[in-house]
Amino acid sequence: MIQTLTPGALPPNPRILVVGATGYLGAKILRQLEAEPAFALRAMSRRGAPAGSVGAVDWVQGDLMDPASLAAALGGVDVVVSSANGYMKETIAADFEGNRNLIEAATRAGVKRFVFLSIVACDNAPSVPHFHAKKVAEDLIKASGIPYVFVRAPAFLDQADDYVAKGVKAGRFYAVGDKSTKWSYVLTDDLAACLAKAATHPDVAILNQTIDVGWCDGAKSQSELADLIVAATGRPLSIWVVPWFVIRALVRPIRFISDLGYDLLQMFMFFRTGRFIADTARQERFFGPAPSSGEAIARWVRRNGLGG
Ligand SMILES: NC(=O)c1ccc[n+]([C@@H]2O[C@H](COP(=O)([O-])OP(=O)(O)OC[C@H]3O[C@@H](n4cnc5c(N)ncnc54)[C@H](OP(=O)(O)O)[C@@H]3O)[C@@H](O)[C@H]2O)c1
Repeated sequence: MIQTLTPGALPPNPRILVVGATGYLGAKILRQLEAEPAFALRAMSRRGAPAGSVGAVDWVQGDLMDPASLAAALGGVDVVVSSANGYMKETIAADFEGNRNLIEAATRAGVKRFVFLSIVACDNAPSVPHFHAKKVAEDLIKASGIPYVFVRAPAFLDQADDYVAKGVKAGRFYAVGDKSTKWSYVLTDDLAACLAKAATHPDVAILNQTIDVGWCDGAKSQSELADLIVAATGRPLSIWVVPWFVIRALVRPIRFISDLGYDLLQMFMFFRTGRFIADTARQERFFGPAPSSGEAIARWVRRNGLGG
């Protein structure tokens, strides 16, 4: 008897390819998926398996800029989860051309679900290059016909090089623009858990959804964020603000020096509009209760040893 699957439904032991699996966030997505032995996991990096990697993950060498390598990496794959990006450390070409190559290769490979890490409100920020790259990739995935889940992240509270934690250790909180404009945040552990759930969610109602991720008590101003950190650490903080006029004045000159610098300053100018706000209704529907700011910050404080 020939069995047919509902479009986007997954076979019992789906093969999942994580693209960007060596990254700060990407490695966390892979770890979340590794916790479930029923999945056949494949992970892609331009360098192949990282030194010392053990376990059941099948590492493949692949480059977003090399379509032939993507065809090989995607063979037999049911689900793609991608958090890869080039704009932060190398070139934004990976975010435009590289994502286009990946989407075309996934279409040819007959992938059943594409989970794409996008950014909150990216469709409202054409002036921010890496936000616009996410919007362009979302449109290409929609046009490809592959069932998708777009998980849209707000600002990460934690980073590989955690400058907020470093500042707190020095008794300082560095704020951008002003103390009162609100925007949304997430911890990367929580975001990775949402992406892993999106990859394997059994309810096909999740397909073709765009899901913002954030905190259940909403966006925070930087003064509110500093107050929450003070409450969780018991350490006093002085807030140092780089005002908007300085950021605005730097946008043009920095363009001649640094693509990344220009991108980040344009991003902060977008934050100023007050539209970088996650709506967590779909997150709660598909992934369960969103953490509160207080609970997430308490975890971040513990992990960074910032408690008093
Ligand atoms: N930071 C924030 O506040 C924030 C907020 C919202 C969304 N985001 C998004 O979050 C994601 C950050 O992920 P992350 O922390 O894991 O990034 P990361 O640490 O910068 O790692 C980048 C990953 O992309 C892969 N990559 C880069 N160029 C590639 C290419 N040409 N071919 C194949 N792979 C390539 C790298 O793989 P190899 O080097 O091993 O090949 C690596 O795994 C990005 O998509 C970013 O846009 C960030």
